[in-house]
Amino acid sequence: MARGTVIDLNRLSIEQWDATHLRWPELVHYIQHEDLAVGVIEDERPVPDARYLVVPTASEIAGFLMLIIQPIGPEMDCPILQSSAGIPLLEAKIRAFHVREGYRNHGIGTALQQAVLQTAARCGCYQVRSWSASTRASNYAIKVKLGFAAHPSPRTIRGVVVPGIYWIKRVDGGC
Ligand SMILES: CC(C)(COP(=O)(O)OP(=O)(O)OC[C@H]1O[C@@H](n2cnc3c(N)ncnc32)[C@H](O)[C@@H]1OP(=O)(O)O)[C@@H](O)C(=O)NCCC(=O)NCCS
Repeated sequence: MARGTVIDLNRLSIEQWDATHLRWPELVHYIQHEDLAVGVIEDERPVPDARYLVVPTASEIAGFLMLIIQPIGPEMDCPILQSSAGIPLLEAKIRAFHVREGYRNHGIGTALQQAVLQTAARCGCYQVRSWSASTRASNYAIKVKLGFAAHPSPRTIRGVVVPGIYWIKRVDGGC
């Protein structure tokens, strides 16, 4: 995108893509180029139970978010959380969230997070959850603005302890 270009959010849309989408290879290229492929795509194919929310322009992808619908618990080596009626509770776990540099600070990231909350509600999720490192100031600003709760928790990534926060929000209308 040319420097100084004004971004009209009303002209951008958030689409859910899968491998049948004509521009799927473009999304794969974006993910690989940003070094986000681990756990986000598998051999250039979608991860099972994942959803890919994409903000395309006519010429490029402005940003995307990948979430996975999963039962609450097993990812953290805990039993599946159930309701009092014995129904397993689901969460939308965000694994990747990225907006291309020239498109940042125009509300695209916020719109993607709001789209996750809507997707999670449609899928009957109890909550949305993610983790990000303490260096992710813009992400933190968005999460606070949208009312996510914060659970500070370091993670060990490739042998290095990284300070960060688990962000969790109850889904309105979820089960
Ligand atoms: C996080 C990211 C997706 C946000 O995308 P975006 O389109 O710029 O998001 P928005 O424009 O909706 O919101 C950005 C917010 O960050 C705020 N912000 C920007 N720089 C900031 C800084 N240095 N410190 C604090 N807040 C900051 C903006 O003011 C804005 O908040 P506001 O709407 O309340 O004013 C984008 O910055 C990105 O791709 N970063 C690199 C990858 C990343 O950090 N991913 C998330 C964690 S893994």
